[in-house]
Amino acid sequence: MKNMFRLDNRLALVTGGARGIGRAVAAKLAEAGADVAIFDLLDASEAAEEIAHTCRVRTNAYRADVTDPESLRRCFDAVERDMGTPDVLFNNAGIGPHKDALAVTPEEWNNVIGVNLNGIFFTATEFARRLIAKKTGGSIINTASMSGLIVNLPQRQASYNASKAAIIHLTRTLAVEWAEYGIRVNSISPGYIATDMIASVDPAMRGMWEKMIPFGRMGTPEELAGAVIYFASDASSYTSGSNLVIDGCYTAV
Ligand SMILES: NC(=O)c1ccc[n+]([C@@H]2O[C@H](COP(=O)([O-])OP(=O)(O)OC[C@H]3O[C@@H](n4cnc5c(N)ncnc54)[C@H](O)[C@@H]3O)[C@@H](O)[C@H]2O)c1
Repeated sequence: MKNMFRLDNRLALVTGGARGIGRAVAAKLAEAGADVAIFDLLDASEAAEEIAHTCRVRTNAYRADVTDPESLRRCFDAVERDMGTPDVLFNNAGIGPHKDALAVTPEEWNNVIGVNLNGIFFTATEFARRLIAKKTGGSIINTASMSGLIVNLPQRQASYNASKAAIIHLTRTLAVEWAEYGIRVNSISPGYIATDMIASVDPAMRGMWEKMIPFGRMGTPEELAGAVIYFASDASSYTSGSNLVIDGCYTAV
């Protein structure tokens, strides 16, 4: 039987792939057979080289700012030239500052919405336009968060929570709008995952989080990869508009 989870002959584009969840998932997509292009504000060439070396697939890194449609257009053009049209988009770049709602400035609010929501939308639309022109289908996996479903404690993060809730509904909306083009759109909603994003968080707060997670621990970035590969591959050919929560039971309580 053909392994329906394999991604051979696919090109996966991963945003925010220089480190953290993006980097770990990019490596697993490559293990499943995909070539990988990475977009990040940071230099992701070391990540790309390591993945190419370990998995024997083609990889490239591009400096892209997901808040800037012109930067995205340039980088998508470069990917098309170097590697072809991506079939899979892991739309994952994001930021997560903590601050009381009453202290957040308009600039700080707009920055979070700019990266987490506008960035997801600009990248998804640029990806979809190219697939529609080629008349081939594809798969988008957006990184939302359990914070789009619940309100975390004790930290204050109104802009983050609002942006992630919006991603979950944007995912459903684009899934419906692009169904006729064979472009599936799903999201993952991770719980607490041990990455650089939360490395700077006060250890006492992290300890509180761990007590609130029924699994008693944070997840690893690699523990998200199975869901992304499922959504990217033919295994999920009838699935679009879904949001898969991966949170060690946090939101079940
Ligand atoms: N770590 C967690 O607990 C957790 C939980 C739920 C959801 N998430 C989400 O997962 C995603 C990845 O988070 P992470 O923990 O790996 O964080 P991270 O900070 O380790 O990685 C985020 C990456 O996104 C890149 N990035 C930020 N702004 C960008 C921009 N404007 N353009 C291009 N790249 C940009 C960063 O340079 C970085 O490489 C985010 O969307 C985050 O909200 C994380």
